[in-house]
Amino acid sequence: MPGLFVTFEGGEGTGKTTQLKALLTHLRAAGWDAVETRDPGGTPIGKQIRGLLLDPENTRMAAASELCLYEASRAQLVHEVIRPALDAGRIVLCDRFTDSTVAYQGYGRGLDLDLIARMNALATDGLRPDLTVLLDLDPEAGLARATQRATQRQGRHDRIEEEVLAFHQRVRAGYRAIAAAEPGRVAVLDAARGMVEIEGDVRRRVDELLRRSGPPGGSRVPASG
Ligand code: TMP
Repeated sequence: MPGLFVTFEGGEGTGKTTQLKALLTHLRAAGWDAVETRDPGGTPIGKQIRGLLLDPENTRMAAASELCLYEASRAQLVHEVIRPALDAGRIVLCDRFTDSTVAYQGYGRGLDLDLIARMNALATDGLRPDLTVLLDLDPEAGLARATQRATQRQGRHDRIEEEVLAFHQRVRAGYRAIAAAEPGRVAVLDAARGMVEIEGDVRRRVDELLRRSGPPGGSRVPASG
């Protein structure tokens, strides 16, 4: 039995990482065998690629280089982490995935959407999420949160966060277009609300999916040990 694949998407500062971790804790407490990973990153090779992509010093990176690097990190992640975990019947929670490339490189940078679809298919070998949680937030509010986080961390935005507001507005429009095209897969949640309220929404969606599809093979481990 294949496992279950859930991705978290959204613009900067939408709280997707916090929501992913909350869901992970919830699923594990309920006895599910769930793992978390992130795109870009998630593997030793992916971490190196992530460093290149987010380094604010890399101001001269061409849009085509950027696209290829995101896809390279993803190909490695699917090959090394996600596919084996799903084949073992586990639940995989991934912080960003193919929709990020459509939203950021497609709608944000203006690269060809058909080309991106083909590159996504190459990198993932056709793997698609069972559910995508899209945290939707006004980019001005999201960037303010990202600035707060950057100040706490190292006092600087990463290369993508440094993009102009209009870029982030196109990214949000891109995400909304993806959600409108695939309402069955993408759950759009209002990220301006409190964390606990959003957590409840995410849980309901995932619990419903687990009920509907039946337990992923081997994912259930005894809650009491
Ligand atoms: P994050 O892990 O904090 O979300 O940072 C990853 C950054 O990379 C974020 O700004 C979104 C961006 N990104 C893309 O532009 N394209 C992609 O395909 C992915 C996965 C992320």
